[in-house]
Amino acid sequence: MLDINRRHFLKVVASAGAAVTVSTALGGCTSLMRADNVDTVNFTHGVASGDPTTNAILLWTRAEPKNNTKPVITVGWEVARDPSFSDIIRSGTATTSARRDYTVKVDVQQLPAGMPLYYRFVGHDQYSPVGEGLTLPKQGVEAIRLGVFSCANYPAGFFNPYHHASQDDTIDFVVHLGDYIYEYGAGGYGYDDAERIGRTFPDNNNKEIISLEDYRRRYALYRTDGGLQALHAAKPFIVVWDDHEITNDTYKDGAQNHQPKTEGDFYQRRAAAIQAYYEWMPIRPPQGDASLQIYRSFELGDLANLIMLDTRIIGRDKQLAYADFTDASTGDFDSQGFQAAMQSERTILGKKQLQWLVDQLSQSEARWQILGQQLLMARMNFPAAIIGAKDRSSIADKLLNAARLKQARVNGQKISEQQQRYIDTVSPYNLDAWDGYAMEREVLFQQVKQMGKKIVVLAGDTHNAWHNHLTTRTGELVGVEFGTSSVSSPGMETYLGLDDATARKLATALPTVINDLQYSNLHERGYMVTHISKDAIDNEWRFVDTIKSKDYQLSGTHRAQFRG
Ligand SMILES: [Fe+2]
Repeated sequence: MLDINRRHFLKVVASAGAAVTVSTALGGCTSLMRADNVDTVNFTHGVASGDPTTNAILLWTRAEPKNNTKPVITVGWEVARDPSFSDIIRSGTATTSARRDYTVKVDVQQLPAGMPLYYRFVGHDQYSPVGEGLTLPKQGVEAIRLGVFSCANYPAGFFNPYHHASQDDTIDFVVHLGDYIYEYGAGGYGYDDAERIGRTFPDNNNKEIISLEDYRRRYALYRTDGGLQALHAAKPFIVVWDDHEITNDTYKDGAQNHQPKTEGDFYQRRAAAIQAYYEWMPIRPPQGDASLQIYRSFELGDLANLIMLDTRIIGRDKQLAYADFTDASTGDFDSQGFQAAMQSERTILGKKQLQWLVDQLSQSEARWQILGQQLLMARMNFPAAIIGAKDRSSIADKLLNAARLKQARVNGQKISEQQQRYIDTVSPYNLDAWDGYAMEREVLFQQVKQMGKKIVVLAGDTHNAWHNHLTTRTGELVGVEFGTSSVSSPGMETYLGLDDATARKLATALPTVINDLQYSNLHERGYMVTHISKDAIDNEWRFVDTIKSKDYQLSGTHRAQFRG
């Protein structure tokens, strides 16, 4: 994993990099190995770094006490310029305890900008694995490459996309868009192959997770995956949560997969989930009451402003559901009521975050405005008749038929009035996504348009790959969206019961059905590499051939470019 010749893609103009000096004394830099002031521990879950700034980076490990029952555990840490730690530039000690599940965080300050670094933790008789970090660049940045991920489901498969990215020396930072864990129990979502591939849950964590201890054990399990450990050690992460870090389809005051009667108070569960998240993820800890505020931004030199959003917890109103507007006995759909609800003032970001986002967009002078967030933002409309279909297995055929009809019309062939109505009467297929909050999306798009800027949106959550245009209601382009496939969670192919050939066929046909869709992949797991340069953003989708075994290969890639 460690390569001395590792070349960060991030290119900083030499003089800018060299001009930075470390202002503080570099005292205490000798090795702490076997020093009396650190305890005997096992570094059971690897190392991680995250939330880089131009002069700081957050380091993470877990130090499980070994042969001692001390209430407070002390470990050492070291940051060096070289992988052999002959040039240590920072070191110190940090403490942890059972109160924080023996996780350790060190916020290393006063580092030079754009600096590759090596770090490790030190116990009484062992070192942790070595991790590689990188601070954000300040100026003169020519290019940055982000690895973009979402949706890793442990029982569904090995985290091969994480592993693949850990081997790519050109990726500077990882952006994780959430669903880093899933809350379900054994036999739940994604569990079909768990026994066969040896990815079952341990007995003490095989139910749906609800308590703090449950969430902690789930993170601990996920962090045993070799691919994930390797990626954390190789790259700094910039993370946000989606719903499954708490529970499915979370919104401000509840969730689809939370039943207060049997699972207790939602806010208590959310607090437990968030505590475990901050313990286990390489993210700066929250400040007091602000623990719910995860939205924040990262300036990638003058190249890009990376704005990380929370579309789940801090402001989101409850999702609309088609079922709530459908008469259970007659099956009649209350279209007027639905339209009225869609056009009411509903928020996905919350007023405060929306204002913050607009301020970020208007104040930033960076070349690119990149939004790292959970859900598809583009308009994803299907013929309404298909959304109402009860039989999922018929949906692919219906969509292929809709694509044929639309294409026929484009080609100037005559289609009947009934067929025209069928393809033109459309509705969003996922009301949990931005489509369910279309008014707020339009407010945002109009703001972007008025600023004369374009946004680049990174999205996860769907488990499939997407490239979309982002357009206002009247069709003006305000940006693009790159949606990443999942690390291992089952996607559309499983939901609709498609074989690979049909999934490919449908993926090719969908851009005809969905106006703003440019490309989709509906059946392969993977990640994205977003290459940001002054001239363009080049996005590459990468797919692996399997997640059911640790032996895998890259099965394909797709590229798209946006020049603003
Ligand atoms: Fe997911």
